[in-house]
Amino acid sequence: MDLSEKIQNLKREKKAIILAHNYQRPEIQDIADYVGDSIEISRKATQEEDAETIVFCAVDFMAESAAILNPKKKVLLPSLGARCPMAQMLTVEEIKRQKAKYPGAPVVLYVNTLASAKAQCDVCCTSANAVEVIQSLDADTVLFGPDRNLAEYVQEKTGKTLIPIPEYGFCPTHLLFQPEDVKVLKLQHPDAEVVVHPECSSEMRKVADFIGSTSKMCRYAKESPCRQFIVGTEEGLLHRLRKENPEKQFFLAYEGAVCPNMKLTTLDRLYVSLREEKHLVRVPEQTAQKARKALKRMFEVKS
Ligand code: 13P
Ligand code: SF4
Repeated sequence: MDLSEKIQNLKREKKAIILAHNYQRPEIQDIADYVGDSIEISRKATQEEDAETIVFCAVDFMAESAAILNPKKKVLLPSLGARCPMAQMLTVEEIKRQKAKYPGAPVVLYVNTLASAKAQCDVCCTSANAVEVIQSLDADTVLFGPDRNLAEYVQEKTGKTLIPIPEYGFCPTHLLFQPEDVKVLKLQHPDAEVVVHPECSSEMRKVADFIGSTSKMCRYAKESPCRQFIVGTEEGLLHRLRKENPEKQFFLAYEGAVCPNMKLTTLDRLYVSLREEKHLVRVPEQTAQKARKALKRMFEVKS
C-alpha cells in the first residue's frame, strides 16, 4: 500500500476530512477533500457535520480558526512549525495600545492573526471580503492589522481611513514580488494578464490587471478570455490554476515566491498526523468565545 492509500484508509477509519489551503504542495492539494482560500476552508470546516476530525493542511492561524468554529471536533495541524510570520507580528499589547490611542475606532483584523489577537477585535476579514467588511462598518476610521499592504489596498477601495496595526506588518513571501520582474515577463509574454494578491506591495498592485484573494484569482483566470497569466502570489496556487485551466498558461511573477511555512505539510507528516492524532489544536474557551464572535460577524457580511 502506498502512502496515499494509507492516508485514505486512516481518513475513513477516523471519520476525518482533509482541508488544504491553495498554497499547499501539489500532492497535498490532490489528496485533500477540499482546497480553497482562507475563508473557504474555514467555512468548509463548519459545514462538515459528519466529520469527527478535521486535518488542516495550512498554517497555525487557519487551524486555530477551525478549532474556534468547531469546538466539538478534533482539529489537527500536521506540522507544529507551520506558523505564519505575519500572524506573529501583531500582539495583544499592540492592539490595546492602539485602542487607547484611537478610542471608539473599530478594530478589524485579518484572519492572519493568532486567536488571542482575534479575541480583541470587533470583526475579522480575509483578503476575499476585507473591502465589504470595512464598508459594512458605520465608521470612517478603522484600526486594521496586521497586513499594511492589505490595509492600503482596502483604504484605496473604500475611501475610509485605515490605521495599520502594527505600523509595518507584512507577508515576507508576497514582498518578494517586484515590478521589474513583471516587466521582463511581460516582454516575453506581452498578452499575459497580471494577477496579484493584495498582500503584495503597492508597486506590484499598480502593475496588476486584477487584484484578489487566491480563490478570486482562480475565478478570474477561469472567466477571463486571456490565455496567459503572470501570477503574483505563493507558487502553490499555480498547481490549482493549471489543473483547472489546462488550456491556459501561468507564469509565477517571481520564481522564489515560496511560503516555507505552508510547505512544512508533507504526505509523511499528514499520515503521522492522522495516525497519531496530532497536533491537536486547542484554543482556551474564554479566548475562543470572543474570537468566534468576530469570525461569525465576518461570515454575516455579504461579499
Ligand atoms: P487567501 O487564500 O485568503 O487569499 O490568503 C492568502 C494567504 O496569505 C494566506 O496565508
Ligand atoms: Fe503567512 Fe504569507 Fe505564508 Fe500566508 S503566504 S501563511 S501570509 S507568510
